[in-house]
Formats: sequence, structure tokens, C-alpha cells
Amino acid sequence: MPVEGEQELQVKKEQKSPNASIGEGSIKEEVKRRSFISWLAVAWVAFAAATGGFLTMILRIFFPNVLFEPPQSFKIGPPEEYEIGIVDIRWQAKFGTWIIRDSETIYALSTVCTHLGCTPNWLENENKFKCPCHGSGFRKTGINFEGPAPRPLERYRIVMADDGQILIDKSRKFQYEKGQWSDPESFLMV
Ligand code: FES
Repeated sequence: MPVEGEQELQVKKEQKSPNASIGEGSIKEEVKRRSFISWLAVAWVAFAAATGGFLTMILRIFFPNVLFEPPQSFKIGPPEEYEIGIVDIRWQAKFGTWIIRDSETIYALSTVCTHLGCTPNWLENENKFKCPCHGSGFRKTGINFEGPAPRPLERYRIVMADDGQILIDKSRKFQYEKGQWSDPESFLMV
């Protein structure tokens, strides 16, 4: 029979070194718990990504890509602002239009080359539009005379607005080869 001192020593040993089988179980539980937390985190990330993608799709439906283009109709001031014999290029960049005034009329020419759509340059010294892409040349009237362009430049509708300004309407075009340059809205009498 153990003496009292040995019994106390035995109790202390048991308290200090817990049962080995209980320790292994705790570690396994801990590993399982951490694994579960990791999977939970992955699941949350996947859920958040899927939700984000879905919301993005919804937003794309309500806010689709919109191409902002300049308006088809615009005013260019009164006829007095345009000099006879001058090709006015101030509306070229924004509206793709040249304004030309001769002794009797003002007309609006499209800046789109009728070959493949490049923008010709106005060459004041040579008195012609010259396309940099394949060399087509156009007279001040818009008539083609050199290079591969198959037809003249197009003209836009031009009328006087109520406020005394010239109004250009690009939604209506006039083609020389179809006899449309005689239409009263293809030029403005001045
Ligand atoms: S696009 Fe102008 S000549 Fe070809």
C-alpha cells in the first residue's frame, strides 16, 4: 500500500501529463476545425466573387456602353461669317464638315472620302482636297477628279434657322451622281 507522500506524487504526475489518447483526439479536432474554417473562407470568397459578377452583369444591363457622338444637327453662325471662295475647316474636327461659300451659295461638304472613308486635307495652294490614304483628289465643289475615289464627296442639308444662323443637318445627305445637288436644301442661297 503506497504511503501518503507517494500518493500525492502520483496525483501530481497525472495532473501534469494528461492521458495521451485524449491529446491526439484534441489535435485531430483542432485540425478538423481549422480545415472547416478554411473551406468556409474559400466558400465565402467564391460566393462574394459570384455575387460581384452577377451584380456587375446587372449594372451592365442598366448602364450599357454608350458611344457619345456629336449631334447630327448643329448651327454654324450667320452667313456673314463665311468668306466667298474660302473653304472653312473650323467644323472639320468636331462635325466632319467643311463649309464652302461661293459667289451665290453656301454648301456643307462631308469630310469622308468616297473611296474608303479617310479624311482628305484641304490644300489651299493647290485648290483641292487631297486624301492621304490613296491619293484621291476632289475639287472645292466636292467633285472627284483623281485617284481611286469612285464618286464626289457628299453634301449635307443646309438651311437657315429661325435665329438667323445656318443649320447643318447631317442626317440628310445629297449625292451628286444621283442628281441630288439640285435639291434646294443641298445649298443655301446668299
Ligand atoms: S480613302 Fe481616300 S483615296 Fe482611299
